[in-house]
Amino acid sequence: MSPLQLLDAGAALQVTLAGEVHRFHAIWLRDNAQDAQTRGPGHGQRLITLRDIPPETHIAEAAWSEAGLHLRFEPEGKRVTFDPAWLLARAYDAPSPQTPGWTAEAITRWDSRLADHLPVEDFHAVAQDKAARRRWLRAIARYGFARLTGVPTTDGAPTEVARLFGYVRETNYGRVFDVRAEVNPNNLAYTNLGLQAHTDDPYRDQAPGLQMLACLANTVQGGDSLLIDGFMVAERLRQQSPQGFALLARHCARFEYTGTAGVRLRAKRPMIELGPDGELIAIRFNNRAAAAFTDVPYEDMAAYYAAYRQMAELIEDPALAVTFKLEPGELFIVDNLRVLHGRLPITSSGQRWLQGCYADRDSLLSTLAALEEEAA
Ligand code: FE2
Repeated sequence: MSPLQLLDAGAALQVTLAGEVHRFHAIWLRDNAQDAQTRGPGHGQRLITLRDIPPETHIAEAAWSEAGLHLRFEPEGKRVTFDPAWLLARAYDAPSPQTPGWTAEAITRWDSRLADHLPVEDFHAVAQDKAARRRWLRAIARYGFARLTGVPTTDGAPTEVARLFGYVRETNYGRVFDVRAEVNPNNLAYTNLGLQAHTDDPYRDQAPGLQMLACLANTVQGGDSLLIDGFMVAERLRQQSPQGFALLARHCARFEYTGTAGVRLRAKRPMIELGPDGELIAIRFNNRAAAAFTDVPYEDMAAYYAAYRQMAELIEDPALAVTFKLEPGELFIVDNLRVLHGRLPITSSGQRWLQGCYADRDSLLSTLAALEEEAA
């Protein structure tokens, strides 16, 4: 058994797990005890509050046995046993990441080279086969998007896709929304415009975490979908201009939608959202929905706009984008807090009918975690 060492008169424990030395605080260990008096069997919820644990809690005894790591906490006289694998998976004694904008290991940033191996699955396979569903959800978690083929071309199709992992998020645009282009030679000039890549609805609290866009009909030429990894854009910006990156992360932008009677959606959020530990949480970029920025100090506004412009230029960089044409029966899903979507110009007459719906990330990640646990 690996050596155990009490530190600071039992305020912490040093333990070697799988060859790595880790320190754990007594208060952390006691709070995370897995016994039936601390955690409810079945639901796994904590049954005690922090006030039930004396502030002077320390480890009085530590020993290994076949069952795991035994600890005795005083002054409670509480004995608990830890599974070393459980502890190793939750070890926190590691240097914190220094570079702002870091992402978890489950995320892979990408650029145009992803075009050679775009994540794609078949609707019926995903609906019927748990392994295919797991693969599909894992790709969305990793790349922030995936394509789906074999999707019904009936009204409401995207909601059937949302049901495979979670729940539709209804908004003022409805349960589903239509993106229609009826293009004839007379009005071609007005409807064939491309659409700059953006994230949807940054004026909501919170912006939808997922968007599904299904193609129900498409007889036009052009109008290809374009996707860009906003996390890659943020990383490029940070490399080119750490100050610009910091400005877009530090100051909030404002977004709003007031285009419908009775709807006044407004949100104050940064374009690059970082957690307090520098983790990249979300990207918001939507030229059409940007309101006047009023939260950037006068001294920083010029540099803020320069960084905003730099970000916009990266978003136009073809080396970062993937494009593909959605045919009827195809759908893509994007992580709307990460991946930007846009549309190339439509170059012929015809009909194009896309239908979208929103959902949230938590249900997708929950379904993925449950499927992975089941398969382990
Ligand atoms: Fe959009």
